[in-house]
Amino acid sequence: MASLGPLFIVTAICISTGNAGFVVVQCSSENVGQYGQQSLLECVVRPTKDATDTQIRVVTWKKEGDEEALLVFHNGQTTLQPGYKFAEPSWDNKNMNVSLLVTNTAVKNAGIYTCMVVTNSGDEKSDIRLKVTAKYSVPVIHSRPEKITRTADGTLICDADGGYPQGEIRWFVEDKTDWTRSSKMEVTVTENGLLKLTSKLPLLHGSIFSKYTCVVYNASGGKEDEAIYKVQDRPEGQEGGRVLGAPASKIVAPVVVIGSLIIGLLLLLIYRRRNQQARRHSTAPLMRDHREVSQEEADYDRDNSQTTDKEFPGGQV
Ligand SMILES: *[C@@H]1O[C@H](CO)[C@@H](O)[C@H](O)[C@H]1NC(C)=O
Ligand SMILES: *[C@@H]1O[C@H](CO)[C@@H](O)[C@H](O)[C@H]1NC(C)=O
Repeated sequence: MASLGPLFIVTAICISTGNAGFVVVQCSSENVGQYGQQSLLECVVRPTKDATDTQIRVVTWKKEGDEEALLVFHNGQTTLQPGYKFAEPSWDNKNMNVSLLVTNTAVKNAGIYTCMVVTNSGDEKSDIRLKVTAKYSVPVIHSRPEKITRTADGTLICDADGGYPQGEIRWFVEDKTDWTRSSKMEVTVTENGLLKLTSKLPLLHGSIFSKYTCVVYNASGGKEDEAIYKVQDRPEGQEGGRVLGAPASKIVAPVVVIGSLIIGLLLLLIYRRRNQQARRHSTAPLMRDHREVSQEEADYDRDNSQTTDKEFPGGQV
């Protein structure tokens, strides 16, 4: 752990170019630039003990693979290509900090740069590497078909773009099980050199879960962001056996209870009606017009006071 700090800051020691000995150019060894931000390529001229009053005559910054220099200081004049400048705002030839600033880092800026310096006490040059990173967008999941149910096959598609270098999309089921094996990821290079990751996860009916998480990892395996897709719980079809088991039982129980209640009531009604008809046959035939309305009262009165049909005027009209 402790060794990481010095490693990061200090030196890529120089390859001597003949006129050697009195200066070195020290550059930081690892430089990570953020896409769209400034990147510092830090190099400093260090005179050795013997050299005094060092003055810089020439500075040249080149990028590996490019013909033209990005920055040249010569005869007191500085020539720059757009997007590059001395990191020191008012640099002059007594300033040993010859760092280069990339003003708006793009993917194409990644690579190896060389800083060449000619001084009054020797020449020297050194290489420095710039890595470019860009954070992927927050991933987005969409599905095919648009509505995923548990009863039909489907596909989840997770997209994350604007990242660099290539990262990875992984899928997790119910927050824990890594399902990435079943998925397929494609990488697309967009106009500005940034990458788009697209991962497709097929879903097979009968083994569709309720929660899917798409996680984006950067090139060094660091988790960047995630998106969650939830499958709706209420199925639309009635087929589908095992998965339907749980919700179906919730419906069956009340149906059974209410059904038996209704059947019980029906049986009770039939039983009562039979009883009444049996009695009606034994009581007065005059009752026939009004028995629907007043049968119960009639039963009651007959039981209690031995009354006859005369007490019901309706029967006599
Ligand atoms: C060189 O200059 C840059 C820009 O001013 C600064 O950030 C950096 O720390 C300097 N490096 C050294 C070693 O002084
Ligand atoms: C990846 O993410 C980790 C954690 O967020 C971060 O420390 C690391 O610098 C990132 N690496 C790249 C290459 O973006």
